[in-house]
This record gives sequence, structure tokens and C-alpha cells, in this order.
Amino acid sequence: MLNDPVLVNDWHVVALATDLQEGKTMAVRLLEEDLVLWRVGTSICVWQDLCVHRGTRLSLGKIENETLACPYHGWVYDQDGQCIRYPAHPEQKPSERAHTKVYKARERYGWIWVCLGEPAQDIPVFAQWDDPTYRKILCGPYEYKASAPRAIENFLDVTHFPFVHQSYLGDPEHAEINDYTVEINEDGITASDINIWQPDPDGTGQGANVSYIYRVYRPFTAGFIKSSAGPHFAMFFTITPVAPDLSRAWAYVAMDYSNLTDEEARQYQNMITLQDVPIVESQRPELLPLDLQAELHLRSDRTAIAYRKWLRQLGLTFGTA
Ligand code: FES
Ligand code: CO
Repeated sequence: MLNDPVLVNDWHVVALATDLQEGKTMAVRLLEEDLVLWRVGTSICVWQDLCVHRGTRLSLGKIENETLACPYHGWVYDQDGQCIRYPAHPEQKPSERAHTKVYKARERYGWIWVCLGEPAQDIPVFAQWDDPTYRKILCGPYEYKASAPRAIENFLDVTHFPFVHQSYLGDPEHAEINDYTVEINEDGITASDINIWQPDPDGTGQGANVSYIYRVYRPFTAGFIKSSAGPHFAMFFTITPVAPDLSRAWAYVAMDYSNLTDEEARQYQNMITLQDVPIVESQRPELLPLDLQAELHLRSDRTAIAYRKWLRQLGLTFGTA
């Protein structure tokens, strides 16, 4: 496994909670580690996907009586990851070393979050989650054959809207960005009062200026809230760093108005993301350069500058150069 303590000791979404069904294993990959997930009721087991006997994938195994049996020679593991039976020697008490590598898991916002080390902080707060005035629409996952920091930086960037999302989120004739403010603090980054013109920000068909506030909670979790004259549109966005060049993004759209059905809002978000993916996948170098001299920056790139500085302060290495 990689040597990036910031990410090892952080929570990462790996799956939709409803996709992990009782009686079935699930194989996922996080930070280049193969994991097997399985559940008994509300308790979720997340282990290295590897039988300690001969290295077979336990995700190919069978769940029975709240245990998971390896598909190769049938070693039976209990929910703590301890082997409790060698079928070839039923009378022999399994060794304490016959134990899988067990990781921490939590279910929140309908997702399964995993920490491969000791969590240094709680799962980030999705501000609109408990606010009934907002509808929450689950989106994704979206795959990027790109590094997670490149994909997050794209999420934080409003100056591409008029070009990549022309006629949806911006217009090349109205591409100016005001001098907004950015702060880096202990718990992340806040970029406030970013103003940009949009052709139809709230479904009335009228172009208007909108104002964004972005928050970066963790290296790979961020959100924004957008306000126009009245309505609010927010997003909570988090990325599974699968490998340095492979990312899976999970998102919620939250809105306090209803010009679109949930399904239409999801389709719209899918379309917007699919406009971003080829752009992000095309970026070189693949890994996000944390040396500010490595690429050129404008005043309007100050969120990205702050993001790179913050990742550097944290000592993040995965997906960066
Ligand atoms: Fe798992 Fe042998 S490899 S029981
Ligand atoms: Co975009």
C-alpha cells in the first residue's frame, strides 16, 4: 500500500450503501489496495481482499452464517476477520495469525466510507443533508482516468464554465470573473463570492449573475453553494482515489427549487460531468503539480492556487507531483 499518511488516515467513499447487499461480497479498490466488502445487517466488514493462506481473493468467496469462506480451500473467517475453521483439519484451532487485514467502515449519506488507517478527523459534513428545504439527488459514480487532485481542481474551477459548459453554465461573451476571496484554514479552504454570469441559473430561462461559495473539506472532498436571485443549488462531491491515475467521483446535488424532476436533475449533472471528463483526462502532467511555478496562474485561479498550497502543506503525495 502507498505511503501517504494524509490519505491513509482519511475517510473515502468506496460504494453506494444500497449496492452492498447482505449475502453478497463486493470488491472495490482504494488507494491501490483491493478490498472486499460484506455486511451483516448494519455492520459492514471491509478487509484486504486476500486470504492469508494462498492469497486468493476473498471477494470470490461465500457468505454463510455470518462468516465469509475463502473460495479456494474453504477457510472460514468470522466478522472480525479471524479464521475460525480450516476445513482440511476441522479439529485444529486456527492460528491467531490466520487473520485478514481489517479496515474501518462507516455508512453516511447513503455511501460507504472506508479508512485504511486511523481516521484523523470525522467524515466531512454535507451541510444540506439535514436541511429539509433541499432535495438531495444522488449522482455518479463518474470515472475519470485521471488523478483525484486534477478532478477536484476541475470541480473547484468556475472559469471553465463558459467554455466547457457553454450555454449551460456560462457564455464565452460573459467569461469575466471578479476578484473573489479565498482562505485556507485548519479545516480546508473557503472561496467566497465568486460571481459569474449564467444563461439560466434557476430554470426561469433568464440569464443572471450567480454567486458561488466553494468549500474544500478534505483533499478529495469539496462542495459549493450557488445562489441567484432566490433559489439555491448546492453540490457535495467526493472522489475515491482508486490509483494515482484513476478516480471515481460521487456526488449529491441539493436544490431548494423544483424546475426539474430528480431524474432530470441527475441527467443534467451526468451531462455536465461528461463534458468535464475528457478535458480532465487530457491534462498533462497527469499528476497535479504542487510547485506553483510549474503551470501558469491567473488571479481567477486563486482557488486552485490555494488548493495546491494546502495539499502541499498537508504533505499529500498521492496523485500529485
Ligand atoms: Fe484461501 Fe487457501 S487460499 S483457503
Ligand atoms: Co465542469
